[in-house]
Amino acid sequence: MPLCLITGSSRGIGRATALALAADGWTVAVHYRSRAEEAEAVAVGIRAMGGSAQTFCADVSDAAQAAALVKTVETALGPITGLVCNAGVIRTQFTAMTAAEDWRAVLATNLDGAFYCTKAVIRGMMRQRSGRIVYVSSDAALLGDLMRAAYSASKAGLLGLTKSVARELAPSGITVNAVAPGVIATDMTADTPETRRAKQLVAIPLSRFGEPAEVAAVIRFFLSPHAAYITGQVLSVDGGLCM
Ligand SMILES: NC(=O)c1ccc[n+]([C@@H]2O[C@H](COP(=O)([O-])OP(=O)(O)OC[C@H]3O[C@@H](n4cnc5c(N)ncnc54)[C@H](OP(=O)(O)O)[C@@H]3O)[C@@H](O)[C@H]2O)c1
Repeated sequence: MPLCLITGSSRGIGRATALALAADGWTVAVHYRSRAEEAEAVAVGIRAMGGSAQTFCADVSDAAQAAALVKTVETALGPITGLVCNAGVIRTQFTAMTAAEDWRAVLATNLDGAFYCTKAVIRGMMRQRSGRIVYVSSDAALLGDLMRAAYSASKAGLLGLTKSVARELAPSGITVNAVAPGVIATDMTADTPETRRAKQLVAIPLSRFGEPAEVAAVIRFFLSPHAAYITGQVLSVDGGLCM
């Protein structure tokens, strides 16, 4: 069975992606940073549907932990054929009030973490002469999100990473794509103030927030044989927010 490592799959979009890929026959490495119980519940759910999954803990903002994560997954489950860089954090603050440490913390998880995981899987995928990498970016990369400069910059960085790595790995038969979700109903958006939520809704042509499964469906597509001839692309899943 092909093996996919999904960073941050204890909750939200990562969790939905884990369930969707398991339904397609992927063995899933369910990764988390702190919520062990939630991650274990995802793995138990996958095994209950007859799939195969195991949990792994690491802080992907730490280069050594990210490299060790990939090694541990491969030792336990075999060669990684799919990587979904989904782990992410958000901070909402005016740029003038953003401390350097806050800026660094967001970039460290959202962008550096994706780079560390990518670097760690590349050699193995090149040996197999196949592989799929998907980055979970954001419409914030394309539109800029109010009071979220670090977040928007980190997600825009992922788009540069997507296109550059896609060019580099295409000769090895590895595809690299990104999804750019709009506003999706997860823990990350749960405490958005009502006034901001109302403004977001007005800007979304389909007049509703997205569900994690709707983003997972696109990630699943990028990892499927149907997307074999697609690389270096970014697809928004946002109810038309970014058309
Ligand atoms: N929700 C949205 O509206 C939206 C829109 C656009 C893009 N996105 C992006 O989609 C991705 C998933 O978002 P979500 O809404 O599903 O978020 P979420 O529910 O807050 O889940 C975040 C996940 O990332 C993990 N994580 C956070 N920091 C980490 C670190 N340093 N090392 C390892 N894992 C870490 C968390 O692990 P623990 O559970 O162990 O803490 C959790 O599994 C993020 O990259 C986010 O930026 C979300």
